[in-house]
Amino acid sequence: MNIKKQDKKYIANTYRRFDLDLVKGKKELLYSSDGKEYIDMGSGIAVNSFGVNDEKWKQAVTTQLNLLQHTSNLYYTYPQVNLAKLLCKKSGMKKVFFANSGAEANECAIKAARKYSFDKYNKDRHTIVTLKNSFHGRTITTLSATGQDIFHKDFGPFTEGFVYVKADNIEEMEKQITSHKVCAIMLELIQGEGGIIPLDMDFVLKTEKLCKENDVLLIIDEIQTGIGRTGAFYSYMRYGINPDIVTSAKGLGGGLPIGCALFNDKTQNVLDYGSHGSTFGGNPVCCAGAFNIVSRINNKLLNDIIEKEKVIREMLDGAKGVESVDGMGLMLAVKTTKNAKEIVAKCMANGVLYLTAKDKIRMLPPLDINKKIMEKAIRILKEACEQ
Ligand SMILES: Cc1ncc(COP(=O)(O)O)c(C=O)c1O
Repeated sequence: MNIKKQDKKYIANTYRRFDLDLVKGKKELLYSSDGKEYIDMGSGIAVNSFGVNDEKWKQAVTTQLNLLQHTSNLYYTYPQVNLAKLLCKKSGMKKVFFANSGAEANECAIKAARKYSFDKYNKDRHTIVTLKNSFHGRTITTLSATGQDIFHKDFGPFTEGFVYVKADNIEEMEKQITSHKVCAIMLELIQGEGGIIPLDMDFVLKTEKLCKENDVLLIIDEIQTGIGRTGAFYSYMRYGINPDIVTSAKGLGGGLPIGCALFNDKTQNVLDYGSHGSTFGGNPVCCAGAFNIVSRINNKLLNDIIEKEKVIREMLDGAKGVESVDGMGLMLAVKTTKNAKEIVAKCMANGVLYLTAKDKIRMLPPLDINKKIMEKAIRILKEACEQ
């Protein structure tokens, strides 16, 4: 039985997979079982920050694996506290809660926001405003937070208390924030699954101001945008804002499952004994790998990311069939005159793996992708758009 048949027989049918198996890789190159080489422009959807089989990350992970793979959160572990300290130093936040995924990081943020308001005000001030076209995860509550109707069928009833505002519409946002029922606003600064759409700077700054004036918490979902992806450690730094809670996952672990919620001065002590927990959250092996990743997000790497964005934009600017290039840093998407899925298929046939986001071709390559290899991948995309 080949892998396609076994997959169909034994695995729940939730993924529409490409006709490709992957067995190994090195940095930005991946290999299928028939030995064909592919340039990886997706990094496992913004997860493999330094590509596949990265020596330094592997060393950090295996060193910890040889010491202690897991213990419960009833005991102290060094990788967890070391990572928390480093994340606070890099972000300016004050405390961290560790989870296993992006959705769980957002669940934690939502719980903390509701508790902040519950402790200080009363139970009726629990509404969370998110944006239309947002994506915050696939648990029932994070689906509620996700402002896309397509996710709101088949699985109800959903968690109550979410309202959706149109991105960049400050009047609508003001109306909600000042309604006295809202405890938090949750935003992706670049809508990822929604099509790589950066929010307008003025809208973000005004939303932050309204939040501060009304004691409404500002939660920034950095699950796809974080850990250097946009050319800053977190994308909120490019907008110059100070969130109350930040959620992070994906690229944080560099390929192992880890997520976290970061809290500022105001929110750092909201969660108290017994109010939240996770068996695997802060697993020592995941934390050791994440420490290695986070410690390597330095100014040189961030500047290189911005330089690579410029190269990509220059190569695609005015190209036949290309309508726009959206996004920031190495989180970019190309809108073409053709069908995005067909372009991705053509690129795959020519040895490059791209993703889609809505009707665009999305790229999230390893943060340190080799420039020549990246240029080759963009040339192949350009040719596919021209045809
Ligand atoms: C912005 C954002 N939030 C949350 C999630 C959910 O993360 P996970 O799949 O790790 O639960 C994603 C995943 O794509 C995401 O892009």
